[in-house]
Parts: sequence; C-alpha cells; structure tokens
Amino acid sequence: MERLDKVLVSQNIGSRKDCAGMIRRGEVQVNGILVKKPETKINPESDQITVGGRSLRFRRFVYLMMNKPAGVLSATRDPRASTVLDLLPEELSVKGMFPAGRLDRDTEGLLILTNDGDFAHRMLSPKKHVFKVYHAELDGPVGEEDIQAFREGVELEDMVCLPAGLELLDGQGIQVRVRICEGKFHQVKRMFQARGRRVVHLKRVRIGDLELDPALPAGGVRELTEEELSLIFR
Ligand code: URA
Repeated sequence: MERLDKVLVSQNIGSRKDCAGMIRRGEVQVNGILVKKPETKINPESDQITVGGRSLRFRRFVYLMMNKPAGVLSATRDPRASTVLDLLPEELSVKGMFPAGRLDRDTEGLLILTNDGDFAHRMLSPKKHVFKVYHAELDGPVGEEDIQAFREGVELEDMVCLPAGLELLDGQGIQVRVRICEGKFHQVKRMFQARGRRVVHLKRVRIGDLELDPALPAGGVRELTEEELSLIFR
C-alpha cells in the first residue's frame, strides 16, 4: 500500500504539493469514492484512480525507445551539454528515468530509457547475452581477416572482446554491421581501431530482437509495447 499523493507524483501528475492540493480540493477519486486525504493508503496496482474525472493508467515502470541523435549525451543531466533526458516530452519525463546503456555523443540510434534499474541491469549484463547491433561506416575497407578476428575476439590494450559478428553491407567493406554482446567504453570504435580502421559513423539499430523503429525520426521517442519489451530478451 502506498500514499495516494506519492502515487500521483510518481505518475508525473505534479509536484507533491500540487498533488496534495488536487486531493484536498476533491479532484481525486479512488474506486469511485472521493478521497480528500493525501496520506490515504491505496494499492496503485489494483485501485482505480481518477484525477479530474480522468482515469489514471498506473505504470510502475516506464520503458521508452529513442532514436538518439548525434550531439547529445547519454546521461541524465549535464549542466553544460544537452542530454537524452532533455529530449523527453513532459508526459514521458517520469521521475527516475535514465538511459539503459550509453551511446557516445556522436553515435546515433536505438537507446532504451527506463526507470527500472533491474531491467537495465539485465539488458546490459554480458552474461545475459543480449546482442547489440550497429551499422558502422569505416574510413577504409575491412574483409575476411577482420571478420575472422571479430569472430575469435578482438584484442584491445586492456581486454579481449567476446566473439562478435562482422558482416559487410556493401561490396567494398566500408559499410558494415557489427553484433556484440558487451558494451565497454567506445567498444565498437576500439575494435575497429585494433584492426587499423576508424569508425566515421555509428548507429545502433537493434538490441536483442528489438529493432529501431524506422518511423522514429532522430530525437524521437515513444513508449515500448509489452511485446517489444519481450523482444529484447528473446
Ligand atoms: N561502441 C562505440 O564505440 N560507441 C558507441 O556509442 C557504442 C558502441
């Protein structure tokens, strides 16, 4: 059981003070009954709450898909730079949201944002083998030897990468697709650097079986459906 005012705050209805005011003014009903005490204990999972006559769809956690544009940080807040949280429209800007995993500032594409820490941990742990797929453009061609090296585990200065997939998307080996299940700092860029190549453009297109929605413009964000969420771990 949780306090009614806290539940409203968690659903982004307003500040604690705003929500307490709404309750005291008689704008909130629980299971069809007017409740005027902000401290009233309710069960948000099963009780029907209405605010100003509109029924509230309670969500313990929120999961968003973003098409991250280049130039913004995958961080919560930064005093000097814009972050992915600054791109959230107000209705999705729920308390405790953070990016589940990081893309470099100049990397684009699929980013999941959530306020569910356990979920993020499961998605990011290499032990869970959730693959992340990137499209990269390189400064010069790669070929069979690089594919083999990726398959065996590229050696970086401080670590050996887990086996990864490298696929050529064009005849030249400049446009490639990379599949990794780790997410170490600058990993894809460093893997190519170890092979003597520089990544000039990088975009994440897939996590697990979840593809970046092609209809989502750069900077666009929307909620994930239950089905899409399950695709991540399939
Ligand atoms: N690997 C990188 O080098 N950068 C990213 O943003 C993601 C993976």
